[in-house]
Amino acid sequence: MIVLGIETSCDETAAAVVSADRHIRADLVLSQEDEHRPFGGVVPEVAARAHLLHLDGLVARAMQAAGVAFADLAGVAATGGPGLIGGVIVGVMTGKAIAAVHGLPFLAINHLEGHALSARLSDGVAFPYLLLLVSGGHCQLLVVEGVARYRRLGTTMDDALGEAFDKVAKMLGLGYPGGPAVERAALCGDPRRFALPRPMLGRPGCHFSFSGLKTAVRQAAEGIPPEGEARAGAVADLCASFQAAAAESLIDRTRHALTAFRSLYQETPTVVVAGGVAANGYLRERLTALAKAEHARLVAPPLSLCTDNAAMIAWAGIERLQLGLTDGLDFAPRPRWPLDPGAPPVGYAGSRLKLLPVGHSSASRLLRSFLFIPI
Ligand code: KG4
Ligand code: ZN
Repeated sequence: MIVLGIETSCDETAAAVVSADRHIRADLVLSQEDEHRPFGGVVPEVAARAHLLHLDGLVARAMQAAGVAFADLAGVAATGGPGLIGGVIVGVMTGKAIAAVHGLPFLAINHLEGHALSARLSDGVAFPYLLLLVSGGHCQLLVVEGVARYRRLGTTMDDALGEAFDKVAKMLGLGYPGGPAVERAALCGDPRRFALPRPMLGRPGCHFSFSGLKTAVRQAAEGIPPEGEARAGAVADLCASFQAAAAESLIDRTRHALTAFRSLYQETPTVVVAGGVAANGYLRERLTALAKAEHARLVAPPLSLCTDNAAMIAWAGIERLQLGLTDGLDFAPRPRWPLDPGAPPVGYAGSRLKLLPVGHSSASRLLRSFLFIPI
């Protein structure tokens, strides 16, 4: 069973071909970093147009790299949401068109389900397991009970962790994308130099909050020298201090989720970490130490499967196809699509408001007035 996967929900155009024996036959990702860098963040309109321009060619290249023809496919899977709606529409329409022309089943995949199931593609993890999903738009702890069966234990009450990394990078002038830049700067920094808050530490439950920590970083940033070597040192120390505070909060919440899982299932779960922030080496180290202390298995898929990619979408397509969970060509792209619709809303989590940077030119103001797209 071979499935073509398409991912266009944010700023990566991706196409992949995966088979049911967990073989990734092709996995292509075209980053739009260069298009968005001048704006300091993802511009939804620019993203949608770039997906439109590149997706057809990328699909053709993926099929060629995999050495398969459309007739060899068992189905076509495309991210159906949540995400920036213009991009999602481009991916869904392309997927539907290929499926319609070649008479194949179409599968609309929840992007979060793609992340959630990626550890089954990389490591064959069995259900149920505990998932820590940390990306630019989401920060959640979930029990993955099965395909299409998720139980949310915790989510963020304000910012996602990746979003906090991106904003910290921006306020320190480290550029875009922010997460890897903060991690790089933190490598030679002193995490004890700035006393930052540890959000939610010790509180009951598994929810997250990062906006207070972000504000504390902003206040600390105002006090550091404007230039020179002293500034570089202070920026490194502030990044290290931020990363340490965020990690401590993340570890505390995950420990609570392990306890919640044990009381639900009377067993210690495999802990899977997924999403772009899972690329962070320091966080991985801390999670490894937690898993060791808790006698839990930690699975962190390879980096290429942690950040946005289409292999995870193709794989989720395979899992759904095996269960007969296909979608009609009338599927409507979904800007919002929670994995556990029964979980009560918390703060403004999940509202993923993509904002352009605060610019001062009239062109920037004009763009912002048209392009703030709440999703
Ligand atoms: O999963 P992803 O590729 O896209 C979303 O669905 O959001 O995650 C992107 C996020 C961005 O916020 C990026 O800054 C963050 O993941 N990220 C990192 C690192 N690499 C990517 N955050 C911290 N450390 C990293 N090394
Ligand atoms: Zn993602």
